[in-house]
Amino acid sequence: MYVCLCKNVTDSDIEAAVANGCGNMRELKSALGVGSQCGRCTSHAREVLYEAKQTA
Ligand code: FES
Repeated sequence: MYVCLCKNVTDSDIEAAVANGCGNMRELKSALGVGSQCGRCTSHAREVLYEAKQTA
């Protein structure tokens, strides 16, 4: 499912980024561009990030 429409980022993209070492929103933003355009996805992206970290 898409999390960030501006940058075409899905929840699986975020999970993969976490598996590759992204640990916070700043790193996720520089790796995938999430939240770097309209910013509306930021809170959902943060939830997906923390969920991925818990299951990693
Ligand atoms: Fe992610 Fe716009 S939906 S920056």
